[in-house]
Amino acid sequence: MKILVTGGAGFIGSAVIRHIIENTQDSVINLDKLTYAGNLESLLAVSDNERYVFEQVDICDRAELDCVFKQHQPDAVMHLAAESHVDRSIDGPAEFMQTNIIGTYNLLEAARAYWNELDADRKQAFRFHHISTDEVYGDLPHPNDESYVGRGSARQMDSENQSCVGQPSGCQSDSEHNVGRGSARQNEVQQELPLFTEQTSYAPSSPYSASKASSDHLVRAWLRTYGFPTIITTSSNNYGPYQFPEKLIPMVILNSLEGKDLPIYGKGDQIRDWLYVEDHARALYKVVTEGVIGETYNIGGHNEKQNIEVVHTICDLLEELVPDNNNSIAAGNQQGFKGLITYVIDRPGHDVRYAIDASKIEKELGWKPEESFENGIRKTVEWYLHKKVYEFIGNDYQNTQNI
Ligand SMILES: NC(=O)c1ccc[n+]([C@@H]2O[C@H](COP(=O)([O-])OP(=O)(O)OC[C@H]3O[C@@H](n4cnc5c(N)ncnc54)[C@H](O)[C@@H]3O)[C@@H](O)[C@H]2O)c1
Repeated sequence: MKILVTGGAGFIGSAVIRHIIENTQDSVINLDKLTYAGNLESLLAVSDNERYVFEQVDICDRAELDCVFKQHQPDAVMHLAAESHVDRSIDGPAEFMQTNIIGTYNLLEAARAYWNELDADRKQAFRFHHISTDEVYGDLPHPNDESYVGRGSARQMDSENQSCVGQPSGCQSDSEHNVGRGSARQNEVQQELPLFTEQTSYAPSSPYSASKASSDHLVRAWLRTYGFPTIITTSSNNYGPYQFPEKLIPMVILNSLEGKDLPIYGKGDQIRDWLYVEDHARALYKVVTEGVIGETYNIGGHNEKQNIEVVHTICDLLEELVPDNNNSIAAGNQQGFKGLITYVIDRPGHDVRYAIDASKIEKELGWKPEESFENGIRKTVEWYLHKKVYEFIGNDYQNTQNI
Protein backbone atom coordinates (compact mmCIF):
# COMPACT_ATOMS: atom_id res chain seq x y z
CA MET A 1 0.00 0.00 0.00
CA LYS A 2 1.21 3.52 -0.87
CA ILE A 3 0.15 6.21 1.60
CA LEU A 4 0.34 9.94 0.91
CA VAL A 5 0.96 11.64 4.28
CA THR A 6 0.51 15.42 4.35
CA GLY A 7 2.34 17.32 7.08
CA GLY A 8 4.77 14.42 7.44
CA ALA A 9 7.62 16.68 8.56
CA GLY A 10 5.61 17.83 11.57
CA PHE A 11 5.42 16.40 15.07
CA ILE A 12 2.67 13.79 14.58
CA GLY A 13 3.15 13.25 10.83
CA SER A 14 6.79 12.29 11.31
CA ALA A 15 5.83 9.79 14.05
CA VAL A 16 3.27 8.29 11.65
CA ILE A 17 5.87 7.96 8.88
CA ARG A 18 8.48 6.46 11.21
CA HIS A 19 5.84 3.98 12.40
CA ILE A 20 4.82 2.97 8.87
CA ILE A 21 8.33 2.58 7.49
CA GLU A 22 9.67 0.78 10.56
CA ASN A 23 6.71 -1.54 11.22
CA THR A 24 4.99 -2.26 7.90
CA GLN A 25 5.82 -2.98 4.27
CA ASP A 26 3.88 0.08 3.06
CA SER A 27 5.38 3.01 1.15
CA VAL A 28 5.03 6.67 2.10
CA ILE A 29 4.95 9.88 0.11
CA ASN A 30 5.58 12.72 2.56
CA LEU A 31 3.99 15.91 1.23
CA ASP A 32 4.94 18.95 3.30
CA LYS A 33 5.45 22.66 2.70
CA LEU A 34 8.14 22.81 5.42
CA THR A 35 6.78 25.74 7.38
CA TYR A 36 8.54 26.77 10.60
CA ALA A 37 6.93 23.65 12.18
CA GLY A 38 8.27 21.15 9.64
CA ASN A 39 11.61 19.50 10.30
CA LEU A 40 13.05 16.78 8.06
CA GLU A 41 15.49 15.88 10.83
CA SER A 42 12.61 14.07 12.50
CA LEU A 43 12.70 11.61 9.57
CA LEU A 44 16.42 10.87 9.44
CA ALA A 45 15.80 7.35 10.76
CA VAL A 46 13.73 6.45 7.67
CA SER A 47 14.56 8.95 4.93
CA ASP A 48 17.06 6.64 3.20
CA ASN A 49 14.50 3.87 2.97
CA GLU A 50 13.44 3.07 -0.61
CA ARG A 51 9.78 3.05 0.54
CA TYR A 52 9.98 6.72 1.54
CA VAL A 53 9.88 9.79 -0.70
CA PHE A 54 9.55 13.51 0.11
CA GLU A 55 7.72 16.18 -1.91
CA GLN A 56 7.94 19.81 -0.80
CA VAL A 57 4.47 21.03 -1.73
CA ASP A 58 1.92 23.47 -0.30
CA ILE A 59 -1.57 21.92 0.03
CA CYS A 60 -2.97 25.24 -1.18
CA ASP A 61 -1.30 24.68 -4.58
CA ARG A 62 -3.80 22.59 -6.56
CA ALA A 63 -1.60 22.15 -9.64
CA GLU A 64 1.25 20.75 -7.54
CA LEU A 65 -1.14 18.44 -5.72
CA ASP A 66 -2.43 17.08 -9.03
CA CYS A 67 1.16 16.34 -10.09
CA VAL A 68 1.89 14.45 -6.87
CA PHE A 69 -1.24 12.28 -7.21
CA LYS A 70 -0.48 11.58 -10.87
CA GLN A 71 3.16 10.74 -10.27
CA HIS A 72 2.86 8.64 -7.08
CA GLN A 73 -0.58 6.98 -7.44
CA PRO A 74 -1.33 6.59 -3.70
CA ASP A 75 -3.84 4.10 -2.25
CA ALA A 76 -4.70 6.31 0.71
CA VAL A 77 -4.21 9.84 2.05
CA MET A 78 -3.51 10.66 5.69
CA HIS A 79 -4.06 14.40 6.00
CA LEU A 80 -2.13 15.98 8.87
CA ALA A 81 -0.80 19.19 7.27
CA ALA A 82 -2.11 22.16 9.23
CA GLU A 83 -1.27 25.25 11.15
CA SER A 84 -1.55 23.83 14.66
CA HIS A 85 -0.69 26.34 17.38
CA VAL A 86 -3.64 28.03 19.14
CA ASP A 87 -1.65 31.11 20.27
CA ARG A 88 -0.49 31.78 16.71
CA SER A 89 -4.09 31.45 15.50
CA ILE A 90 -5.14 34.18 17.92
CA ASP A 91 -2.31 36.50 16.84
CA GLY A 92 -2.80 35.86 13.11
CA PRO A 93 -5.76 33.71 12.03
CA ALA A 94 -5.36 34.23 8.26
CA GLU A 95 -2.77 31.50 7.73
CA PHE A 96 -5.00 29.06 9.64
CA MET A 97 -7.98 29.77 7.42
CA GLN A 98 -5.80 29.40 4.33
CA THR A 99 -4.04 26.16 5.18
CA ASN A 100 -6.61 24.39 7.35
CA ILE A 101 -9.73 25.26 5.34
CA ILE A 102 -8.68 26.19 1.79
CA GLY A 103 -5.76 23.73 1.88
CA THR A 104 -8.06 20.89 2.97
CA TYR A 105 -10.57 21.86 0.28
CA ASN A 106 -7.80 21.75 -2.37
CA LEU A 107 -6.56 18.41 -1.15
CA LEU A 108 -10.09 16.96 -1.15
CA GLU A 109 -10.62 18.14 -4.71
CA ALA A 110 -7.24 16.90 -5.97
CA ALA A 111 -7.77 13.54 -4.24
CA ARG A 112 -11.34 13.24 -5.57
CA ALA A 113 -10.27 14.00 -9.15
CA TYR A 114 -7.58 11.31 -8.87
CA TRP A 115 -9.95 8.81 -7.18
CA ASN A 116 -12.57 9.31 -9.93
CA GLU A 117 -10.09 7.99 -12.48
CA LEU A 118 -9.06 4.87 -10.55
CA ASP A 119 -10.18 1.43 -11.69
CA ALA A 120 -13.06 -0.11 -9.74
CA ASP A 121 -10.95 -2.16 -7.28
CA ARG A 122 -8.56 0.64 -6.42
CA LYS A 123 -11.42 3.10 -6.20
CA GLN A 124 -13.22 0.90 -3.69
CA ALA A 125 -10.10 0.39 -1.58
CA PHE A 126 -9.10 4.09 -1.52
CA ARG A 127 -9.31 6.01 1.80
CA PHE A 128 -9.00 9.71 2.68
CA HIS A 129 -8.18 9.92 6.39
CA HIS A 130 -8.52 13.40 7.90
CA ILE A 131 -6.69 13.96 11.19
CA SER A 132 -8.53 16.35 13.48
CA THR A 133 -8.48 17.46 17.09
CA ASP A 134 -10.73 17.16 20.14
CA GLU A 135 -10.62 20.97 20.27
CA VAL A 136 -13.43 21.02 17.67
CA TYR A 137 -15.79 19.96 20.48
CA GLY A 138 -15.09 23.06 22.57
CA ASP A 139 -14.48 22.32 26.21
CA LEU A 140 -15.89 20.21 29.02
CA PRO A 141 -16.80 21.01 32.61
CA HIS A 142 -13.84 21.35 34.93
CA PRO A 143 -13.88 19.62 38.34
CA ASN A 144 -13.40 23.02 40.03
CA ASP A 145 -16.24 24.64 38.11
CA GLU A 146 -19.69 24.38 39.66
CA SER A 147 -21.39 26.70 37.17
CA TYR A 148 -20.82 24.86 33.94
CA VAL A 149 -24.33 23.53 33.24
CA GLY A 150 -25.74 25.20 30.13
CA ARG A 151 -22.55 26.96 29.10
CA GLY A 152 -22.39 25.16 25.78
CA SER A 153 -23.34 21.90 24.19
CA ALA A 154 -20.29 19.96 25.26
CA ARG A 155 -20.81 21.13 28.84
CA GLN A 156 -24.42 20.02 29.24
CA MET A 157 -24.56 17.20 31.69
CA ASP A 158 -28.02 16.16 30.52
CA SER A 159 -27.05 15.75 26.88
CA GLU A 160 -28.00 12.27 25.74
CA ASN A 161 -24.86 12.08 23.69
CA GLN A 162 -22.31 12.78 26.38
CA SER A 163 -20.49 9.80 27.75
CA CYS A 164 -20.29 10.21 31.52
CA VAL A 165 -17.96 8.34 33.76
CA GLY A 166 -20.02 6.54 36.38
CA GLN A 167 -23.24 6.62 34.36
CA PRO A 168 -24.47 3.36 32.93
CA SER A 169 -25.63 4.36 29.44
CA GLY A 170 -23.02 3.91 26.70
CA CYS A 171 -20.14 3.93 29.19
CA GLN A 172 -17.35 1.66 30.21
CA SER A 173 -17.11 0.75 33.87
CA ASP A 174 -15.74 3.30 36.35
CA SER A 175 -12.72 1.22 37.05
CA GLU A 176 -11.75 0.96 33.38
CA HIS A 177 -12.10 4.69 32.83
CA ASN A 178 -10.52 5.81 36.05
CA VAL A 179 -7.24 3.99 35.76
CA GLY A 180 -4.44 6.54 35.58
CA ARG A 181 -6.79 9.47 35.09
CA GLY A 182 -5.31 11.64 37.83
CA SER A 183 -6.80 14.27 40.06
CA ALA A 184 -9.91 14.97 37.99
CA ARG A 185 -11.33 11.61 38.99
CA GLN A 186 -10.94 11.57 42.72
CA ASN A 187 -14.40 12.10 44.15
CA GLU A 188 -18.02 11.35 43.42
CA VAL A 189 -18.85 14.68 41.78
CA GLN A 190 -15.78 14.52 39.57
CA GLN A 191 -16.69 11.01 38.44
CA GLU A 192 -19.78 12.43 36.74
CA LEU A 193 -17.83 14.75 34.48
CA PRO A 194 -18.56 14.04 30.82
CA LEU A 195 -16.10 13.04 28.12
CA PHE A 196 -16.03 13.87 24.41
CA THR A 197 -17.67 11.14 22.34
CA GLU A 198 -17.94 10.93 18.56
CA GLN A 199 -21.47 12.37 18.93
CA THR A 200 -20.49 15.47 20.91
CA SER A 201 -21.65 18.64 19.13
CA TYR A 202 -19.03 20.92 17.62
CA ALA A 203 -18.38 24.14 19.59
CA PRO A 204 -14.85 25.34 18.72
CA SER A 205 -13.45 28.22 20.78
CA SER A 206 -10.30 29.42 18.98
CA PRO A 207 -9.51 30.39 15.39
CA TYR A 208 -7.41 27.20 15.24
CA SER A 209 -10.18 24.88 16.41
CA ALA A 210 -12.77 26.70 14.27
CA SER A 211 -10.59 26.18 11.20
CA LYS A 212 -10.17 22.49 12.04
CA ALA A 213 -13.94 22.15 12.62
CA SER A 214 -14.52 23.76 9.21
CA SER A 215 -12.21 21.28 7.54
CA ASP A 216 -14.00 18.38 9.28
CA HIS A 217 -17.30 19.64 7.85
CA LEU A 218 -15.79 19.79 4.36
CA VAL A 219 -14.57 16.20 4.69
CA ARG A 220 -18.03 14.98 5.81
CA ALA A 221 -19.70 16.92 2.98
CA TRP A 222 -17.38 15.30 0.40
CA LEU A 223 -18.43 11.88 1.72
CA ARG A 224 -22.14 12.69 1.67
CA THR A 225 -22.23 14.57 -1.63
CA TYR A 226 -19.67 12.74 -3.73
CA GLY A 227 -19.46 9.39 -1.96
CA PHE A 228 -15.77 10.15 -1.46
CA PRO A 229 -14.42 7.55 1.04
CA THR A 230 -13.40 9.59 4.08
CA ILE A 231 -12.68 8.76 7.72
CA ILE A 232 -12.03 11.30 10.50
CA THR A 233 -10.09 10.91 13.72
CA THR A 234 -10.08 13.43 16.56
CA SER A 235 -7.40 13.18 19.18
CA SER A 236 -6.43 14.81 22.44
CA ASN A 237 -3.16 16.64 23.10
CA ASN A 238 -0.09 14.74 21.96
CA TYR A 239 3.33 14.76 23.59
CA GLY A 240 6.65 13.07 22.83
CA PRO A 241 9.86 13.57 20.84
CA TYR A 242 10.24 16.10 17.99
CA GLN A 243 7.50 18.49 19.08
CA PHE A 244 8.18 22.12 18.16
CA PRO A 245 9.17 24.01 21.34
CA GLU A 246 6.30 26.50 21.19
CA LYS A 247 4.02 23.83 22.73
CA LEU A 248 3.74 23.44 26.52
CA ILE A 249 5.88 20.37 27.23
CA PRO A 250 8.97 21.10 25.09
CA MET A 251 8.75 24.80 26.00
CA VAL A 252 8.90 23.96 29.71
CA ILE A 253 11.84 21.57 29.26
CA LEU A 254 13.92 23.90 27.08
CA ASN A 255 13.12 27.12 28.99
CA SER A 256 14.04 25.38 32.26
CA LEU A 257 17.44 24.38 30.91
CA GLU A 258 18.08 27.93 29.74
CA GLY A 259 16.92 29.48 33.04
CA LYS A 260 14.04 31.28 31.33
CA ASP A 261 10.60 31.89 32.82
CA LEU A 262 8.03 29.12 32.51
CA PRO A 263 4.91 31.12 31.55
CA ILE A 264 1.72 29.38 32.72
CA TYR A 265 -1.68 30.64 31.56
CA GLY A 266 -4.13 31.66 34.33
CA LYS A 267 -3.94 29.33 37.31
CA GLY A 268 -2.53 26.49 35.23
CA ASP A 269 -5.55 24.36 36.11
CA GLN A 270 -6.67 23.66 32.52
CA ILE A 271 -7.04 19.92 31.99
CA ARG A 272 -5.77 18.08 28.92
CA ASP A 273 -5.92 14.35 28.15
CA TRP A 274 -2.31 13.58 27.20
CA LEU A 275 -1.63 11.05 24.44
CA TYR A 276 1.87 9.76 23.68
CA VAL A 277 2.58 10.52 20.01
CA GLU A 278 3.67 6.97 19.17
CA ASP A 279 0.39 5.61 20.54
CA HIS A 280 -1.39 8.12 18.29
CA ALA A 281 0.67 7.03 15.26
CA ARG A 282 -0.34 3.38 15.85
CA ALA A 283 -3.98 4.40 16.15
CA LEU A 284 -3.88 6.42 12.93
CA TYR A 285 -2.37 3.55 10.95
CA LYS A 286 -5.04 1.20 12.33
CA VAL A 287 -7.76 3.63 11.26
CA VAL A 288 -6.45 4.16 7.72
CA THR A 289 -6.05 0.41 7.18
CA GLU A 290 -9.04 -0.99 9.14
CA GLY A 291 -11.41 1.93 9.81
CA VAL A 292 -14.90 2.07 8.34
CA ILE A 293 -15.70 4.72 5.70
CA GLY A 294 -17.79 7.57 7.06
CA GLU A 295 -16.88 6.89 10.69
CA THR A 296 -15.21 9.18 13.20
CA TYR A 297 -12.92 7.73 15.87
CA ASN A 298 -11.89 9.59 19.02
CA ILE A 299 -8.34 8.85 20.18
CA GLY A 300 -7.25 9.67 23.73
CA GLY A 301 -4.61 8.76 26.26
CA HIS A 302 -6.72 8.28 29.44
CA ASN A 303 -4.35 10.79 31.04
CA GLU A 304 -6.24 13.82 32.32
CA LYS A 305 -3.78 16.23 33.94
CA GLN A 306 -3.89 19.88 34.89
CA ASN A 307 -1.24 21.90 33.04
CA ILE A 308 0.45 22.87 36.30
CA GLU A 309 0.66 19.20 37.28
CA VAL A 310 2.44 18.46 33.99
CA VAL A 311 4.85 21.35 34.57
CA HIS A 312 5.64 20.18 38.11
CA THR A 313 6.30 16.65 36.83
CA ILE A 314 8.74 17.97 34.22
CA CYS A 315 10.52 20.12 36.83
CA ASP A 316 10.85 17.09 39.15
CA LEU A 317 12.26 14.98 36.31
CA LEU A 318 14.76 17.68 35.39
CA GLU A 319 15.90 17.89 39.04
CA GLU A 320 16.52 14.15 38.89
CA LEU A 321 18.09 13.93 35.43
CA VAL A 322 20.29 17.05 35.34
CA PRO A 323 23.05 16.57 37.93
CA ASP A 324 23.66 19.26 40.55
CA ASN A 325 27.13 20.22 39.40
CA ASN A 326 25.80 21.31 36.03
CA ASN A 327 22.50 22.50 37.28
CA SER A 328 23.31 26.11 37.99
CA ILE A 329 19.74 27.25 37.47
CA ALA A 330 18.20 24.91 39.99
CA ALA A 331 21.10 25.35 42.42
CA GLY A 332 20.69 29.11 42.44
CA ASN A 333 17.01 28.88 43.18
CA GLN A 334 15.50 27.49 46.40
CA GLN A 335 12.58 25.98 44.55
CA GLY A 336 14.70 24.49 41.77
CA PHE A 337 13.15 24.61 38.32
CA LYS A 338 9.71 25.25 39.81
CA GLY A 339 11.03 28.67 40.84
CA LEU A 340 10.96 29.63 37.14
CA ILE A 341 7.16 29.24 36.95
CA THR A 342 5.47 32.57 36.16
CA TYR A 343 1.69 32.86 35.99
CA VAL A 344 0.55 35.04 33.06
CA ILE A 345 -2.84 36.41 31.97
CA ASP A 346 -4.96 33.58 30.61
CA ARG A 347 -5.27 32.96 26.86
CA PRO A 348 -8.52 34.50 25.48
CA GLY A 349 -11.21 31.85 25.09
CA HIS A 350 -9.00 29.26 26.79
CA ASP A 351 -10.73 25.88 26.98
CA VAL A 352 -10.83 24.58 30.54
CA ARG A 353 -10.92 20.83 30.03
CA TYR A 354 -10.60 18.24 27.27
CA ALA A 355 -11.13 14.54 27.87
CA ILE A 356 -11.72 11.81 25.32
CA ASP A 357 -13.91 8.75 25.48
CA ALA A 358 -11.83 6.42 23.32
CA SER A 359 -14.03 3.36 23.84
CA LYS A 360 -15.19 3.21 20.19
CA ILE A 361 -11.75 2.75 18.63
CA GLU A 362 -10.87 0.33 21.44
CA LYS A 363 -13.99 -1.76 20.87
CA GLU A 364 -14.19 -1.61 17.08
CA LEU A 365 -10.52 -1.57 16.04
CA GLY A 366 -8.79 -3.04 19.09
CA TRP A 367 -6.54 -0.03 19.71
CA LYS A 368 -5.70 1.35 23.11
CA PRO A 369 -2.85 3.52 24.38
CA GLU A 370 0.15 1.55 25.64
CA GLU A 371 2.19 4.34 27.22
CA SER A 372 1.53 5.52 30.78
CA PHE A 373 1.93 9.26 31.32
CA GLU A 374 4.63 8.65 33.93
CA ASN A 375 6.79 6.66 31.53
CA GLY A 376 5.95 8.72 28.41
CA ILE A 377 6.83 12.03 30.02
CA ARG A 378 10.10 10.59 31.37
CA LYS A 379 11.04 9.36 27.87
CA THR A 380 10.11 12.77 26.45
CA VAL A 381 12.20 14.73 28.94
CA GLU A 382 15.13 12.37 28.39
CA TRP A 383 14.81 12.82 24.63
CA TYR A 384 14.88 16.63 24.85
CA LEU A 385 17.78 16.50 27.28
CA HIS A 386 19.68 14.34 24.85
CA LYS A 387 18.98 16.71 21.95
CA LYS A 388 19.79 19.69 24.10
CA VAL A 389 22.98 18.27 25.49
CA TYR A 390 24.49 16.92 22.34
CA GLU A 391 23.12 19.13 19.60
CA PHE A 392 22.01 22.50 20.88
CA ILE A 393 24.12 23.42 23.90
CA GLY A 394 27.31 21.49 23.24
CA ASN A 395 29.52 21.01 26.28
CA ASP A 396 27.49 22.77 28.95
CA TYR A 397 25.68 19.64 30.12
CA GLN A 398 28.13 17.01 28.86
CA ASN A 399 28.33 15.33 32.26
CA THR A 400 24.61 14.77 32.42
CA GLN A 401 23.85 11.25 33.56
CA ASN A 402 20.89 8.98 32.92
CA ILE A 403 20.34 9.98 29.31
N1 LIG B 1 -0.27 18.26 18.32
C1 LIG B 1 -1.38 17.85 18.88
O1 LIG B 1 -1.46 17.69 20.11
C2 LIG B 1 -2.59 17.53 18.02
C3 LIG B 1 -3.70 16.95 18.63
C4 LIG B 1 -4.80 16.60 17.84
C5 LIG B 1 -4.77 16.82 16.47
N2 LIG B 1 -3.68 17.41 15.90
C6 LIG B 1 -3.71 17.60 14.44
O2 LIG B 1 -2.72 16.73 13.90
C7 LIG B 1 -2.11 17.33 12.76
C8 LIG B 1 -0.61 17.39 12.95
O3 LIG B 1 -0.33 18.14 14.13
P1 LIG B 1 1.18 18.42 14.57
O4 LIG B 1 1.17 18.72 16.01
O5 LIG B 1 2.06 17.35 14.04
O6 LIG B 1 1.44 19.76 13.76
P2 LIG B 1 2.83 20.46 13.42
O7 LIG B 1 2.55 21.92 13.48
O8 LIG B 1 3.94 19.90 14.23
O9 LIG B 1 3.10 20.02 11.91
C9 LIG B 1 2.34 20.49 10.83
C10 LIG B 1 3.07 20.12 9.55
O10 LIG B 1 2.26 20.58 8.46
C11 LIG B 1 3.09 21.23 7.52
N3 LIG B 1 2.29 22.25 6.81
C12 LIG B 1 1.75 23.37 7.34
N4 LIG B 1 1.11 24.08 6.38
C13 LIG B 1 1.23 23.35 5.23
C14 LIG B 1 0.79 23.53 3.90
N5 LIG B 1 0.08 24.62 3.55
N6 LIG B 1 1.08 22.58 2.98
C15 LIG B 1 1.80 21.48 3.32
N7 LIG B 1 2.26 21.27 4.55
C16 LIG B 1 1.99 22.18 5.51
C17 LIG B 1 4.20 21.87 8.35
O11 LIG B 1 5.37 22.14 7.58
C18 LIG B 1 4.43 20.78 9.41
O12 LIG B 1 5.39 19.85 8.97
C19 LIG B 1 -2.76 18.70 12.59
O13 LIG B 1 -3.76 18.59 11.62
C20 LIG B 1 -3.36 18.99 13.96
O14 LIG B 1 -4.50 19.80 13.85
C21 LIG B 1 -2.59 17.76 16.65
